[in-house]
Formats: sequence, structure tokens, C-alpha cells
Amino acid sequence: MTDTTITATTAADFVVVANRLPVDLERLPDGTQRWKSSPGGLVTALDPLLRSRRAAWVGWPGVPDVDVEPIVDKDLTLHPVMLSQAEVTDYYEGFSNATLWPLYHDVVAPPVFHRHWWNTYQEVNERFAAATAKIASDGATVWVQDYQLQLVPRMLRELRPDLRIGFFLHIPFPPVELFMQLPWRTELIRGLLGADLVGFQLPGGAQNFLFLARRLAGMSATRSAVGIAKPGQVDVGDRTVRVGAFPISIDSTALDKQARSRPIRQRAAEIRNELGNPATIVLGVDRLDYTKGIDVRLRALGELYAEGRISADDVVMVQLATPSRERVEHYQRMRQNIEQTVSWINGEFGRMGHPAVHYLHQAIPRDELTAIFVAADVMLVTPVRDGMNLVAKEYVACRHELTGTLVLSEFAGAAAELTSAFLVNPHDLDGIKNAIEAAITVEPDEERRRMRALRRQVMTHDVQRWAKSFLAALGGQEAP
Ligand code: ADP
Ligand code: G6P
Repeated sequence: MTDTTITATTAADFVVVANRLPVDLERLPDGTQRWKSSPGGLVTALDPLLRSRRAAWVGWPGVPDVDVEPIVDKDLTLHPVMLSQAEVTDYYEGFSNATLWPLYHDVVAPPVFHRHWWNTYQEVNERFAAATAKIASDGATVWVQDYQLQLVPRMLRELRPDLRIGFFLHIPFPPVELFMQLPWRTELIRGLLGADLVGFQLPGGAQNFLFLARRLAGMSATRSAVGIAKPGQVDVGDRTVRVGAFPISIDSTALDKQARSRPIRQRAAEIRNELGNPATIVLGVDRLDYTKGIDVRLRALGELYAEGRISADDVVMVQLATPSRERVEHYQRMRQNIEQTVSWINGEFGRMGHPAVHYLHQAIPRDELTAIFVAADVMLVTPVRDGMNLVAKEYVACRHELTGTLVLSEFAGAAAELTSAFLVNPHDLDGIKNAIEAAITVEPDEERRRMRALRRQVMTHDVQRWAKSFLAALGGQEAP
């Protein structure tokens, strides 16, 4: 990054540090560049929150080898951290997404361990820590995000002991037996223990971390009663690190309002029309990731068509899949597999001009996505493992008329809160088929009862509440 002098007046009191900035730099074929929204739940959750504060965000602009100046976007200053192509390969695609991502998601794909990936992970974490140390004001609150930056809390504390440092892990923290596979397990635990507060999506993740802090770092840890109300803690020298569960959410009120607006409702009606006015629209919305169980839900749907339990004349599926991590081998294989399954279903059960599955491998603009949530009758969220899954909450926030059913994997963090969904085991194909059929044929009374309960949870537990409870635990102090 170009060395920009940060003066006292531009130093930030509240800093988010995440692998990605909330916007990605896009290079167009004519050589020009433009900014577009970054993919994924982390940005969805944090972006609206920071737009209403005077804050800074340290992150990578999403393309290698670009050197961009800080950008002031309304009240938020974005500080780009540059990554070279080799660093993107080793730190981002390698250690973050081919070692940590599969390991933390129950090894649904085999994690790959390479020492040179680990070296680059350390170097890049150092760079993020240095960039943050440079822009944070005296005594500032710094909130480090996610698995790509687990060494930053400790590195940052060494550079700037005056800071109050929080860390939140957006993905699952794995069972102890799986974490122990990591050759650099102790370094990661020590990295996280540099924070004043380490937050997880679920109490189970916090419990696993407390156990490992004791076992690997030899710290004294209180394991009892980990939860939102009463976090556990680890004693690190003369410091206390608090550890707890803080289930993330969405800006429910804003989405509810958008879903009620006339243009969105009109667009939802148009979408239904464009799909041929089927009796039931079934929807899947995901980053194209092997943890999301897209293949499983397509297989379930295909078998339901094949067995005549549903017909493509009445039931049409829309599957939206944002392109993701396209240079990582596992993602390439999974994409082929999913696209083959879509063609199989359409070949067997579609009609001219009426495919059974409408599959878009694209990032969809926010308004259009909201209209699709409003149009859909059944939402399928079937990950084999997911830290939270915001899509499930977004669908619920769009259903003010209390219609629509949610089929939700027990292995998504959201299942702990959304207990009135049709809960499924994503490894049980027959169970998923039964749940999809039940969701399609549900009686209106039961549909309303379930959706009312889901909305009660989602509308009251929003992303503002999540941030407030995390920041309160971080020091009884709100972000400015
Ligand atoms: P993850 O963070 O693993 O991607 P989440 O479900 O928590 O999963 O968050 C995904 C976010 O990305 C949600 O806000 C969702 O609406 C958005 N999203 C997913 N797929 C698409 C798509 N095809 N187009 C636009 N946004 C998408
Ligand atoms: C998940 C992760 C985020 C990540 C997002 C998109 O939400 O928890 O840290 O930013 O996926 O993935 P990507 O690799 O494109 O940043």
C-alpha cells in the first residue's frame, strides 16, 4: 500500500479488521476499474452497522497486486492492505481456504497442510496488524474478524498494548480432535489470546476454545456457563481474556421494510410470472461452496420429481450461487458436480421454455435478491456445516405476510435459534426429501404458526443487537 500519513485527526477510534474490505475492486476488460460489493455474510452483517458510525475498515480490496489509497466512503474510511499474487495463492486460497476452512467445517473436504502456506499466513497477518496499529487512535477499540486473521490479536497487542481488541470468528470453531490436527495449533490459540474478548457463533465453539487454551497454551480457563450472558474467561499473565458466544444476525428491520415496499412486491410478482406462475417456487441462495449442501438439495429435489411426489409443472426451483474461491480445486470440482446435477434434472423433468431448476452462477443485486425472497414459497438452506447462515434469517425477514416455509439444516448455526423451521439432517437424503415435501404441502395454519415464531426471533435478534452485546462484553463501551 502507498505509505499514507495518518494524522491524529484521521486516526480512528473504532476499527474493523477483516480479510476483505466491504467492496471489491473489479478490473474491467477495457482496463478501467470499479468498486462492487464483496461476497459473503461477514460483509452483509458488518457493513450496515459501520455506515452509521465514524469508523475505519482495514482489509484487502479483493484483487492481487493493487496499490490503492485509503478511500473515504461516507463516514467510513477504507484502508486497503495489498496482497501479491503469491500471497493470495498461499495465504488466502491456501492456508485460509484449503487448510482452515475445511478443517473448521468438520473436514467435509480434506484440509491440506503446507509449511510455506503457514509462513505466508503469518506474514500477511503481520501486515494487517501493522496497518491497523498505524491508523488506530490512542486507546481505540479494534474488532478483528474471522479465520483469515487469527494471529492479528496477539501481533497487534505487541505493537499497541493501549488498544482494546476484540476478535469474532464467523465460521464454526471445530471439535478439539479436529483442531489438534493442525501443526500450528498452539500458535493459533496464542494468536487469539492476544484479544480481550474472543467471540464465537455458538457456545460449543467457545467451550472448545477454552479447553484448547488450557491444553495447548497452558492457561487457566474457566469453562463454566459460557454463553451470551456469562462468558467464560482465560487468565493470560495479568490479563483476562473473555470468551463467549454471540450469534450474528442481519439488519432485520431494514430488510423487512424493503420487502414490504411496492417496487419489491411488484418485482416479486413479475418474477413469479417469468417463472411461468408455478404453484410453488423453491429457492436456494448461497455462495458456491461445498459446505452449503447445494448438491444434496438438488439430489433430493431430483428424486422427488423422479418418484412423482412433485411435478415440474407445479414446483420450480431457483438456485442462485455466487461465484466463490474459483481457483481452489475443491470449489472447481464441486461446481462441475452441481452443474451436472442441474442439467440432469432439467434434461429429465423440464419442458421447452420451462426448466425445473433455474440456476444462476452470479451475484445478484440486493433489491433483486429481496424480490426473489419475497417471491419464494419454500427456502432450502441445507449446509453440511455453517457458522450461522444469514440467508435463512434474510428469508424470514422478508416474510411479513407469514407465508413461506424454511427447510433448515441442523448443522447451520442458525438452527439453534430458528427451531420452528423444518429442521433436517443434511446427510439424510430421505429426511430432506420428506421435509421438502412437507414444506411444499404444509397447511396454511401451520405455515403461519411456524413463520410467526421464526419472525419473532429474527426481528428481535438483529445485527445491531449482536454488535451491541459483543462490544458491551468487550469493555462496557459502545463503538463511537
Ligand atoms: P457465507 O457467509 O458463508 O457466504 P451466509 O449465508 O452467512 O453465508 O451469507 C451469505 C450472504 O451473501 C447473504 O447476505 C446472502 O444474501 C448473500 N448472497 C448469497 N448468494 C448470493 C447471490 N447469488 N447473490 C447475491 N447475494 C448473495
Ligand atoms: C464467509 C467467511 C468470510 C468471507 C466470506 C466470503 O462469510 O466467514 O470471512 O469473507 O465467506 O468469502 P471470500 O473468500 O470471498 O472472502
